[in-house]
Amino acid sequence: MSLLERVAALEAEVKNATARSAEEAEKFRVAMLGRNGAVTELFDAFKQIASEEKRLLGQRLNQLKQAAQARIDELKAATEEARTEQGSGSDLSAPAATEPTGSLHPISIVRQRIVDIFGSIGYTVSQGPEVEDDHHNFGALNFPPDHPARDMQDTFFVESDDLALRTHTSSVQVRVMESGQPPIRTISPGRVYRNEAISARAHCMFHQVEGLYVDKGVSFADLKGTLDHFTKSLFGPDVSIRMRPSYFPFTEPSAEVDMSCSICGGAGCNICKHSGWVEIMGCGMVDPTVLANCGIDPEVYSGFAFGMGVERITQLIYRVPDLRMYWENDVRFLDQFTAATFRR
Ligand code: PHE
Repeated sequence: MSLLERVAALEAEVKNATARSAEEAEKFRVAMLGRNGAVTELFDAFKQIASEEKRLLGQRLNQLKQAAQARIDELKAATEEARTEQGSGSDLSAPAATEPTGSLHPISIVRQRIVDIFGSIGYTVSQGPEVEDDHHNFGALNFPPDHPARDMQDTFFVESDDLALRTHTSSVQVRVMESGQPPIRTISPGRVYRNEAISARAHCMFHQVEGLYVDKGVSFADLKGTLDHFTKSLFGPDVSIRMRPSYFPFTEPSAEVDMSCSICGGAGCNICKHSGWVEIMGCGMVDPTVLANCGIDPEVYSGFAFGMGVERITQLIYRVPDLRMYWENDVRFLDQFTAATFRR
């Protein structure tokens, strides 16, 4: 066989080569390109031939060597793939891995819990606009025209001094009372805005859930019982509440609700500033003037209202140390919250 014929024969062999395993691919490499391999031998023989033949043959030989190397690489890659598919101990009958689906924001998880608890005792959910007029945010709620809460420091006005970003969702309760007669039992979850400098403890926007119950004979005892049921449902049966006198223009009497600190159990810690109590909401009996402002007869009906900040409640549940974290959308923060990690 001439050298040229041997090159042609090996070219065919390379083209048709197969390997069922990595070992077979390696065997083929040794047979072709190893120290005593067929292609290597051809290169040795090539050195002996006359120089006029060398040019043509040299090219063919180099091409053969490259083709052999390429084929070996292919065979090795193919056998490697097959090995990881079958042999790595993975269970081919296992259900397919699902795509990561993300998670709910901690504020959404806690707001939903609050809505569920009030839903279970007959409260509907009401919503209203975030850009609100003076009447619904302040006027109907008995804020005197010169009340400091209307001041530029607290309120973001929009275009005129009659339109503002709502500072609380009590505005929604005004809308509900204006559009229907008691019995009314509703909560209004939503985003609210106040012109505050942003820090770990304050933000210019946050979430509230406010509640309203208006019917014949609604009393302060009903209010206290409802809030006691709510806090025990959310934080567990061991917490208790107490009420301190307070002031809101739209309720009379008004109270601030403290809950025994759910973090230290009342023993005293940083969160409750070693008092054993944490403030969780404001509440009171709807001022008769407010009922009248909204078209409800205060001689016939009475009602209570309450309002809480969802960030505050979430902080007590998940121990988030800095209010700004709620808004940064850092996935390392958001990833930590699932309904399963809800603790109370
Ligand atoms: N609207 C009050 C606030 O935003 C909360 C509140 C609601 C207080 C209902 C009493 C009754 O702070």
